[in-house]
Amino acid sequence: MNIILGIDTSCDDTAASVVENGRKIISNIVSNQIEIHKKYGGIVPELASRKHIEMIWPVVDEALKTASSKLESISAIAVCHGPGLIGSLLVGCSFAKALCYSKGIPLIAVNHLEGHIFSSFLEKPRPSFPFIALIVSGGHTCLYRIDNFGKYKELGRTRDDAVGEAYDKIGKLLGLGYPGGPVIEKLSQKGNPRSIDFPRAYLPDSLDFSFSGIKTAVLNYINSQSIKRNTPAIHSGFQTSNSTLISNICASFQEAVIDVLVKKTEWAIKKEGIKKVVVTGGVAANNELRKRMKNLSDKHEVEIFIPSPFLCTDNAAMIASAGYLHYKSKNFAELSLNPQAYLPL
Ligand code: KG4
Ligand code: ZN
Repeated sequence: MNIILGIDTSCDDTAASVVENGRKIISNIVSNQIEIHKKYGGIVPELASRKHIEMIWPVVDEALKTASSKLESISAIAVCHGPGLIGSLLVGCSFAKALCYSKGIPLIAVNHLEGHIFSSFLEKPRPSFPFIALIVSGGHTCLYRIDNFGKYKELGRTRDDAVGEAYDKIGKLLGLGYPGGPVIEKLSQKGNPRSIDFPRAYLPDSLDFSFSGIKTAVLNYINSQSIKRNTPAIHSGFQTSNSTLISNICASFQEAVIDVLVKKTEWAIKKEGIKKVVVTGGVAANNELRKRMKNLSDKHEVEIFIPSPFLCTDNAAMIASAGYLHYKSKNFAELSLNPQAYLPL
């Protein structure tokens, strides 16, 4: 039996997880920093690193205790070494290296995107190779063709903002707090998704994405509405007295970005001739996206694999899942491992 301790501190979540044989989650602890960052409307990197330093040992300790595991029973430690915020990554990597050194345990370096992809191996049914992976998160929006473990081909990526970033920025524009994704999803349920025709950047002949245009379109729309009704500030008048308008903006924005995500996935399926798709990353926790992907699956007889929401958002079980595959290939990292903010898959 191989037991991997996964650690992820790539962004604003301090996460540790114990996973057995790369499949069975024994413990999965995530400590988020929403309370710290929400007043700024986004993550403040320096504050994130400091909080990771404070939380890393309690979170790892809790993961081990919940799993009734001792460090001595851990086969290897898998740590996310990028991409991400460099100060945040440094905390997880330094901590993992120190533990490995002191206990003589092998160290495994896992790319955060690889972690998101292999979160789909933690639940049944599992995808078999080859499959298409759509990663939609706060830092990434990309499509990959996955032929095997370690054999990845990028099909497309965002040319500007990630889709989660667009959710967060629009949440901030509307004064809805951070992160924007979950609250925009909630407000969308009360709005009409066809009330405002926001632009969809389909970028013909490309599997790339672009979400900066819709962000500007939403901003212009907000400004035009406030001018017409002579409201002095978006944040004050807008939020309280115009709940239908806010819900309509949220629903129409969400409809536009999901239209693009679904269409691009459809193109990737056709282009690659692959009928299995993994959708993962924080935005894949969105119920409307999950529903629309399910419709796509019915339309094309494609198998769609979307992990449970707690495995879509950042977690360390996904790092342990990918780490296990490295472990089986004896692909260990040196203790001189350095994290990298920019780290292609
Ligand atoms: O994967 P993740 O936890 O961290 C990154 O690797 O970035 O993704 C976080 C992103 C945030 O932008 C957040 O707003 C978005 O995922 N998100 C959602 C939902 N839950 C989280 N977006 C839309 N709908 C949701 N329910
Ligand atoms: Zn992530």
